[in-house]
Amino acid sequence: MSDWYRDFANSGVGTTLVKQLGLPRPAVLRRYTPGQPLLDGPALVGSAGEGRLRAEIEAVLRDDGVTVLSPATADGGSGPKVAAVVLDATGLTTPADLASAHDFLAPAVKRLGTNGRVVVLGEVPGEAPSPALAAARQALDGLVRSLAKELRAGATANLVYVPSGAEAAVPGPLRFFLSGRSAYVDGQTVTLSAVDAPSGDGGTTPLAGKVAVVTGAARGIGASIADVLGRDGAHVVAVDIPAAGQALAAVANRVGGTALQLDITAPDAAQRLVEHLVQRHGGADVVVHNAGITRDKLLVNMDSARWNSVLAVNLQAQLDLTPALLDAEGALKPGARVVAVSSQSGIAGNRGQTNYSASKAGVIGMVRAWAPAFAERGATINAVAPGFIVTEMTAKMPFGTREVGARLNSLQQGGLPVDVAEAIAWLAQPASAGVNGQVLRVCGQNLLGA
Ligand SMILES: NC(=O)c1ccc[n+]([C@@H]2O[C@H](COP(=O)([O-])OP(=O)(O)OC[C@H]3O[C@@H](n4cnc5c(N)ncnc54)[C@H](O)[C@@H]3O)[C@@H](O)[C@H]2O)c1
Repeated sequence: MSDWYRDFANSGVGTTLVKQLGLPRPAVLRRYTPGQPLLDGPALVGSAGEGRLRAEIEAVLRDDGVTVLSPATADGGSGPKVAAVVLDATGLTTPADLASAHDFLAPAVKRLGTNGRVVVLGEVPGEAPSPALAAARQALDGLVRSLAKELRAGATANLVYVPSGAEAAVPGPLRFFLSGRSAYVDGQTVTLSAVDAPSGDGGTTPLAGKVAVVTGAARGIGASIADVLGRDGAHVVAVDIPAAGQALAAVANRVGGTALQLDITAPDAAQRLVEHLVQRHGGADVVVHNAGITRDKLLVNMDSARWNSVLAVNLQAQLDLTPALLDAEGALKPGARVVAVSSQSGIAGNRGQTNYSASKAGVIGMVRAWAPAFAERGATINAVAPGFIVTEMTAKMPFGTREVGARLNSLQQGGLPVDVAEAIAWLAQPASAGVNGQVLRVCGQNLLGA
């Protein structure tokens, strides 16, 4: 589905006209394709204080063939363009040290090219020994979110909090935020856990040999998740209701996977899924709870059927399937990854969607509550919260509502199903072992509930 305004604004005559009228010019985002270099140019790396991650950051960049420049060669913002700016802010000791973050970032960001990346790494505020240090660390969150709103031309800024002991978990998230996989992830914060994680990215097939279940895979975002997980090497078990059987079979065939017709709200759904996974595939490595429905009405007009059906599909099914998979012998393989699809509506709320927003906020509560139990098993559970994603559903919205909805974010455009799929595929990777209990918005830094 093309974005007519973005395409026009980037065409010859459109570029001039949009500039003259002072209208926004959404960039054509640099999205991941297999074999694409991590970055299209050099990276500027700096520290605020005596950071402990500098060597780690530079090793990841050099491993991926990126030329690393340091502030000494930053040239006051007048040097050649760079593809990324990475700040190790783990050395902050007081709020006054934040000035050194500014001193590095201001000239560095001036040199950031189209689709550039800013990644800041800091210590976890909650672990600070004093209120002043907690303030300095938390300040990074405000700095990065605001910077993300200032960047243009498809550039993004994101923050990674790294507790001590979590150094090994840094490469996966760092690569994600630098790469085209995070094209529509902007202004986000991820807090890592102290675990061992493989330092390599797994090349073009990081999910090779993995079995991945995707619910609601017959169409829309779920079909895209199946495509991307399959592209990354997983065998996909595509699940959807029997009524969607034909479309489901087409998706499963396309990705070389298996179709499983299953209503996830059926009383025997958990048992059937467990049996299928154990008997046919020897268990699952990845489970993506994607199936979801909307039944919108203002709360005062909402009948209980609308309320109950949305809660049943979007939340209760995930609450039932997840422990069944956890508890059944061999259903989840060691190091399993569960990713639940929430929504921006579950964070910011949305008129006419009390049922939907309740279910999607519930998903966030569920993921956070389960994270410690998953960690004990060397597994992870996370949520992604998509913002405005261009699908057949959004194509049917009235023109004005759709255009406002799509543009109300820092990247000035709607996301694509593949953007959600890339974030999920990244969370499913072995290298994401240190990301647990997190909620990642894939919303281009939507201005609602940001
Ligand atoms: N499209 C967006 O902009 C957007 C934004 C935020 C969140 N989301 C979430 O992303 C997910 C996918 O959304 P989408 O836009 O692709 O929706 P969609 O309606 O296109 O696809 C949902 C799929 O889930 C399946 N499904 C529904 N009930 C099921 C059940 N009981 N058992 C098995 N499968 C079932 C449907 O048959 C369908 O194939 C949903 O959880 C949705 O809430 C979407």
